[in-house]
This record gives sequence, structure tokens and C-alpha cells, in this order.
Amino acid sequence: MSDTLNGKVALVTGASSGIGEATALALSAEGARVAVGARRADRLESLAGKAPGEVLALDLDVADQESVRAAVARTVERFGALDVLVNNAGVMLSGPIVGADTTEWTRMVETNLLGSMYTVHAALPYLLESKGTILQISSTSGRIASANSGVYAATKFGITAFSESLRQEVTAHGVRVVVIEPGFVATELATHITDPTMQAAAQQLATSMRTLQPEDIANAVVYAVTRPEHVAVNEILIRPTDQTR
Ligand SMILES: NC(=O)c1ccc[n+]([C@@H]2O[C@H](COP(=O)([O-])OP(=O)(O)OC[C@H]3O[C@@H](n4cnc5c(N)ncnc54)[C@H](OP(=O)(O)O)[C@@H]3O)[C@@H](O)[C@H]2O)c1
Repeated sequence: MSDTLNGKVALVTGASSGIGEATALALSAEGARVAVGARRADRLESLAGKAPGEVLALDLDVADQESVRAAVARTVERFGALDVLVNNAGVMLSGPIVGADTTEWTRMVETNLLGSMYTVHAALPYLLESKGTILQISSTSGRIASANSGVYAATKFGITAFSESLRQEVTAHGVRVVVIEPGFVATELATHITDPTMQAAAQQLATSMRTLQPEDIANAVVYAVTRPEHVAVNEILIRPTDQTR
């Protein structure tokens, strides 16, 4: 355990698995007190049991503004401040546009894009007070759109646009905004895809390369958050070496 984030308070959304879980553990290992939010409470409890520092598990659905506001309020009530927001919750329901089940589009937009915006909105007053850091988990799909991921890519392009506006509004107040754009990371993200062809393609892709691990992204988060206060790392794009695009 290190002490670079001693006294700091972080909130990580989508912390019940994958990148969010690894990031919460990494921030805890650096000495931060960490609030972790997601819908699967059992997974959050087991994360709290593994973390080296103090962890607050929060029942959170980012698509529900009331739930987001309550999670931010409970974090500040318990820990007294908020210094780091890791806006990570997301779903990827890949598939072609033609014939798509548009309820999947709604779910992606509500979770990835609106959910991430609601979380910034609820947390911003506290982050302005602490001169904190906001980490927006986007994707390489927020840089390059591909066939069969149009709506997912649209949500991630949206996060980039929103983050740049946000950066221009808050940087003079000492709040840093960091967009993190991972390539292929080995997590359960693709297991929720309902289209069998897309599901098979994702599995094939995973076996075709040395994928990133969630800890690789967690390390990037820790890097950005632990720079001196006058250094704003605004964007980090990380691909597996074996990933071509
Ligand atoms: N894996 C990759 O290759 C990759 C690449 C680029 C970007 N990303 C991004 O990284 C982020 C994390 O994904 P991951 O790869 O770590 O996948 P993951 O293991 O499936 O994690 C997704 C997390 O989001 C949470 N979540 C989903 N819907 C939610 C909601 N409505 N409210 C609150 N939490 C919700 C899930 O928790 P519950 O289901 O318990 O609520 C889970 O903790 C996502 O934004 C994803 O787009 C991933």
C-alpha cells in the first residue's frame, strides 16, 4: 500500500467488475477512501472485502438521476469530500444498425452517455470545492467508429465532446478532466452482447491478441490522478500492442 492519495476521496461508478473494480482497488492501494457504485451489491461487497483501505459500497444505477444524486450525497456524507470521480459505468451491446433492437440503443445512451453526464452534474459542486479530478472512461470507439458498433461509438464520441466542454469550463477552477480511451480489455463487457454473431466475433477477437487487463487501465488512472496539480493529463489512449485499429 502506498500513500500518494492519502486523505483523498474517490467515487468509482461501475465498480462491480472489470476496469471499475481494478481502478477502485488501485486507488485504495494508493491510500484513497473509495466509494464504489453499481447495481450488483454482492460484487461490491466482495470488492470492499479485498480492498486495502476504507470502501463504501453504494447501490447505483447511473441511468437514474435520483440514484446518482443519492450516491454522490452518501459519498460526501461518509467521507466529507470528493476529490476523484471515475466515470466508468458502461454497456456495449454491439450489432448492426439495420434491424437493431432499439431498446439496446436506449440502454447504451442512458447508461454510457446520459449516466456519465448525470454523474458529472451531481459531483461537480464537490469537485469544484476540492479542485478534484474527473476521469471519463471512453474508448478507442470514441475516436474511430466501426461497423456494428455505431451506437456504442456514438456514446463514446459523445463522452469526448462533453468532456472537452467540461474541461474548458472547469480547468481555470483547478479541476482536471481526463479522457481515458482503452482498446480491447479482458472484462465481461462483451459477454452482455445479445447478437450471437457479434458475441462470437468478440470472443474470437479476444483470443486473437494479448488483450489489456483491467489493471492496465487502473494504472493509467492512478498515473493521471497522481501528477502534480499543475499538470493536467487530458487524454490517454491505450491499445493492446497487438490491436491494429
Ligand atoms: N473492456 C473493454 O475492452 C473496454 C474498452 C474500452 C472502454 N471500455 C469501457 O470501460 C468501462 C467499464 O467496462 P468493463 O470493460 O470494465 O466492463 P464490465 O466488467 O462489464 O463493467 C461494466 C460496469 O458497469 C456497470 N454498469 C452497467 N450498467 C450500469 C448502470 N446502469 N448503473 C451503474 N453501473 C452500471 C456494471 O455494474 P452492474 O452491472 O453491477 O451495475 C459494471 O460494474 C465501460 O464504460 C466500457 O465502455 C471497456
